[in-house]
Amino acid sequence: MSDLNSHISTKNSAALFEEAQLYIPGGVNSPVRAFRGVGGTPLFFNHGEGAWLIDEDNNRYVDYVGAWGPLILGHCHPAVISALQTQLTRGLGYGASTAAEVEIAKTICKLVPSIEKVRLVTSGTEATMSAIRLARGYTRRDKIVKFEGCYHGHVDGLLVKAGSGALTLGEPDSLGVPKAYTDLTYVLPFNDIYAMKALFAKEGDSIACIIVEPVAGNMNLVPPVPGFLESMRELCTQHGSVLIFDEVMTGFRTALGGAQSVYGVTPDLTTLGKVIGGGLPVGAFGGRADIMNCIAPLGAVYQAGTLAGSPLAVAAGLAMLTEIQRPGFYESLTKHTAQMLTGLQERADAAGIPFSTNQVGGMFGCFFTTEEEVTTFDQVMACNVPQFKRYFHAMLENKIYLAPSAFEAGFVSAAHGENEIAATLNAAEIAFASLK
Ligand SMILES: Cc1ncc(COP(=O)(O)O)c(C=O)c1O
Repeated sequence: MSDLNSHISTKNSAALFEEAQLYIPGGVNSPVRAFRGVGGTPLFFNHGEGAWLIDEDNNRYVDYVGAWGPLILGHCHPAVISALQTQLTRGLGYGASTAAEVEIAKTICKLVPSIEKVRLVTSGTEATMSAIRLARGYTRRDKIVKFEGCYHGHVDGLLVKAGSGALTLGEPDSLGVPKAYTDLTYVLPFNDIYAMKALFAKEGDSIACIIVEPVAGNMNLVPPVPGFLESMRELCTQHGSVLIFDEVMTGFRTALGGAQSVYGVTPDLTTLGKVIGGGLPVGAFGGRADIMNCIAPLGAVYQAGTLAGSPLAVAAGLAMLTEIQRPGFYESLTKHTAQMLTGLQERADAAGIPFSTNQVGGMFGCFFTTEEEVTTFDQVMACNVPQFKRYFHAMLENKIYLAPSAFEAGFVSAAHGENEIAATLNAAEIAFASLK
């Protein structure tokens, strides 16, 4: 980062990044952390406190990444830390069942009523991979449908974005993914009801499932247009296909009942992750009991995990799920997020910078665009990325840590209050002015 952010010293981060590159491919354990989307050198963080992240040079930043979504209570919330401390003294894992697993499963089923039964795994990727296998096993069909710009983890058959749009089969996005895997994946434009209906009219009876982020959070933030989720529900019901909502990101983020409660559309299966692990590695998939009963040991769809239901992850997750059920939690989160976005829009307008925002609950997206409303992948791709990069670095220099890519959603936590919002808006005023 150093050269692009001359006012703050980040020499310890820079030295660590040099060293990291000797031992870790690209110096990072997940590609987006490498800052390739914004240029410069990534920061190395030492610790977090509430809404703040502190880097290895002791700079303090307001954090809008929140570990990519899980930290809805902010860093080191006392309830989560205390639950972990208690579990630490009891053991790290037993490779066998625990009462807490039953408790978290019951809590998830209560909060997300479409989930009648749920299984815990160790990442979002595992959750979507298992849900797809289950949908295929249940329907005895092979083909699946996903949407352009939606990310469901690095599952082979889901690593396809656009190919040539509606009614075409996909091309892999990554070397190492056999084309035969993605040949079974149809990719459709997000928010395009017509393309979905056309595909189902032709191929509906051979489609095992649709998997969708009900609010797309991996192409910045794009909510569904009215009718989009409803239409896919109807088509899946008509053709006997399984509807999977990937709520790894949106679950307990957009609302207590997830995006499915916001839009009133009920999927057959839901995948979860992030918030349900309180910041520890976790994932889950669940849904209709008749479908879930097809999994081993009850059924012939195999799925397993050495660390699945890790007592630490379950303890942290349960603590977090308890906190977010407090009255007014989501009202306050949504209000603070809206307040911050209104302030950003005012400052962008004052500086004459074309800018718009999207928000669902505690998730938000910011777009450098002249479009008033962003609802499609093509609109997201047409945004002014060079301008975003300059904004990102100006914000960082003013101690605001945003996701280092123009295509990621942002996350507000319950620890973000008036002080953090004021700091963000002061920084934004300087950042927007620097773009003129
Ligand atoms: C919607 C969605 N699904 C699945 C995943 C994969 O989760 P994980 O990174 O835990 O494997 C992600 C990760 O960001 C995600 O946003």
